[in-house]
Amino acid sequence: MSAARHIIVQADAATVAEAAARRLIARVAAMPVAAVCLTGGSSPQALYRLLATPRWRAEIPWPRVHWFLGDERAVPPDDPLSNGAMAREAFLDRCAPRGNVHMIATATSPDAAARAYESELEDFHHHRPGLPLFDLVLLGVGPDGHVASLFPGAPALEEHDRLVIGVDRANVAPFVPRITLTLSCLASTREMLFLATGRGKRDILRRVFAGEDLPANRARADGGGDTVWLLDEAADPRAAA
Ligand code: 6PG
Repeated sequence: MSAARHIIVQADAATVAEAAARRLIARVAAMPVAAVCLTGGSSPQALYRLLATPRWRAEIPWPRVHWFLGDERAVPPDDPLSNGAMAREAFLDRCAPRGNVHMIATATSPDAAARAYESELEDFHHHRPGLPLFDLVLLGVGPDGHVASLFPGAPALEEHDRLVIGVDRANVAPFVPRITLTLSCLASTREMLFLATGRGKRDILRRVFAGEDLPANRARADGGGDTVWLLDEAADPRAAA
């Protein structure tokens, strides 16, 4: 697969969540220490809830898996808009050892928060020399083609030296500053897995798959990693209208 995009279509959002859970388990199963980068938004929520159910929970080697975030909104950690709060409530708080949950702290400025999270990622990376940062990076796609908090036309897209940066202005709601992993950081993964479900995703997916220069097209796993788009039939722009 490597640089090419691989598109997988499932019947509906529930089967997308199951397929994503199977891919996640396959990526973490054999790793002595595994790293998963989570996404915010609504698209991953069915997957996160599934991971906490007995059947799926039993298949994840929780003590060996570390959980990171691809982006965060600059809101308090328990705010309903917080990506971390959403993931913690959906599954992390019940399933993952606390020391394996790496949230983005938002008490400081976005830039300071980004630098602190960058250090945390670098520390973790030192424990896994020779491997990409992540085994799996989950991503959603916004209506403007953004991924994580990397918006179309933003200078952040050209950032190649930093792993994490602060973003002053969001392109879409919620209009709060963000902290986001950069494209090169997200690319350091064995698999980048996009989740997109529902009719509302069809227009942006049509633009992405047509090759438009959008963050969602620039986001690719590098170094031989796989880039996979997991859609349901309703989101598939190639389906009859
Ligand atoms: C965020 C997300 C963002 C999200 C897309 C898709 O903080 O908002 O990380 O990049 O993945 O906007 O969002 P939906 O899944 O809600 O459509």
